[in-house]
Formats: sequence, C-alpha cells, structure tokens
Amino acid sequence: MRPRSGSAGRARSAPERAGSTTGRRGTLQSTDLTLTDAQRALLPSDEDVAHYAEHGWYLSKKLFTDEEVDALVAASERFYAGERSRRLPRRPPTLAYWEPAHGPVQRHNDYIHYESDEIGAILRKPLIGAVAARLAEASEIRVFQSTLIYKPPVPDEPSNQVPWHFDKHYWQSCTSERMLTAFIPFHDCDEPMGTITMVDRSNTWKEFGGDDSTTKHFAHRSKAELEELLKQNADFNGVQIVKVPMVIPKGHVSFQHCRTYHGSDANRSDRPRRAVSLHLQDGENRYRRFTRADGSVVQYNHDHLVRRTPAGDPDYADPDFCPPIWRA
Ligand SMILES: [Fe+2]
Repeated sequence: MRPRSGSAGRARSAPERAGSTTGRRGTLQSTDLTLTDAQRALLPSDEDVAHYAEHGWYLSKKLFTDEEVDALVAASERFYAGERSRRLPRRPPTLAYWEPAHGPVQRHNDYIHYESDEIGAILRKPLIGAVAARLAEASEIRVFQSTLIYKPPVPDEPSNQVPWHFDKHYWQSCTSERMLTAFIPFHDCDEPMGTITMVDRSNTWKEFGGDDSTTKHFAHRSKAELEELLKQNADFNGVQIVKVPMVIPKGHVSFQHCRTYHGSDANRSDRPRRAVSLHLQDGENRYRRFTRADGSVVQYNHDHLVRRTPAGDPDYADPDFCPPIWRA
C-alpha cells in the first residue's frame, strides 16, 4: 500500500503567505486567523478527512515552501553548533536532548520550538494548524511538543531504529483523544532514508491488555518487546499488520493520529535524515491526573515547566511552551 498525497507530484503552489509570527512568542495575532485562497486549496478535502479517520494517517499537499524548508536545515545546523534563542529554565526528567558529546547516534532535541525562535516561527505556520484542525475536527490547535531529529547515514546504528509505538501512550496526562503529530522532513524522505512508517488503521484498534507499562517511552524498552506488543494488538483485533512507509516530498507533511502505531527503520542512504516531529493538541486538551496500577502518577515533561491553572494543575495552554497556532 502506498500513501496518497493530497498533491500530484512536485507542483509548486502559488506563493504562500507565511503567516505573522512576529511579536511575543506564542502570541496569536489577528493576521494569523485567515488563509489566502492559495493556502485554502492546500487543506485536506472531506474525503481526506474521512481517510484520516479511517486509516490514522494523512500525507499533505505542499505546505512549506522550499525556502522555508531550507531555512529549517540552516537553523538546525546552527542549533547543533550551539546557538539557542533561549534555554529551558530547567531540565525535566525524561528530556530528549542530544549534545555533541553523545556522538553519531540518532539526535533528538525536545522543545525545539522553544529553544529556536527561527525554527519555532516556521513550525507555527498557521496553515499547519489549519490542516491539523481539519483532521482533528477541532476549532483550535496548539503546539504540544516539538522534537528536532537527525538520523545519521549509518546503516547499522541501533538508535536509528524507532520501534513500534503510538504517542498517546506517552500523553496519558492529557484529556484529549484527538491529538496528532506532524512529521516534517527537511528534504524528500523515502524508505532508504528510514522514513516514518504507519500501521494502517491501527488508530481504530481496541487495545490489548491495558498494561500501563506502555506509558514508558520506547527509548527505555526493547525493540523485540514492542514488536511483540504490536503483534498481540493486531491479533486481539483480528487483523493483519499493514505497514505504510510514508514517501514524503520536500515541503509536504505526514500527519498521524495519536493512537496510530508507527516506527522507522535504519537510514541506508548517504545523507542524514533531518526532520521535526511536531506534536499538536486540540484547544480542548487539558491536564488530567493519571495514576498507574502501582500508584505512581504519570508525568509529562511539561509538568515541570509550564505555568499552573487556577486549580493548581499544569497548564497545557501556557503560551510560552504550548503556543496556539490556529483558531477557526
Ligand atoms: Fe512517536
């Protein structure tokens, strides 16, 4: 099975207005609230939205210009060289944060939208939020998290392989069941590069077991264990596993539902695979207290960073860390 792209080939869309992201970080300005006619033509159709609901993934039309994507590459290189717009005020316990001392492993850097204004401004392009709002059937979209990723062209590097998982497992402190992820490569991205691969329709599966060890991040579990968990879940639902590698042209974006199983393989190409994984929440998402069987409370890294609500809970609408990017 091949992913359908909302756009035929590499045709360039009409010039896109990059949406105002000036002013205070995280502030949504009035000019953000409209799309040009050319941008409107890039939104998912009703058929695309139905396909996403059924299959759990969507390959967009060309949402970023070549200039925007090239700017992401340049800004990420400056980030890797040590440039920061600001640093996190403290280091939360399970932060993914590659540093040069870690060497030629797969690089993950969380909160890139916070630490790099240049990358953050491109990621907050309102069109991305508008596409996500259509897919999630939400009226508001905020950033939840963003991770800068660099998969070195080392075929046997074990850290390049991302085992099967779905993101909601790590977001049990969220009330929303509609959260989604935009995978934004900085170039054409295909199977030899180890592109993101979806398990078709797994967003609709009932979950086997209910073992809350799934809240443990894949980086702390074995690949074999997670492969087996995927198989158990498919068997439990009486279905075959259908894997869909997303072949993503430059400027296009792959979206997946928060319950869609996904993973990615080695980078067998001769170039690094560069991307951002942009996690998005609908406007209604809130913190909830989620307790494991052993009595421990699930924590997300935000819980150590964001402001508090009047009730004293972590505020997942804190504009510094979770800026809004779209309101209908
Ligand atoms: Fe993921």
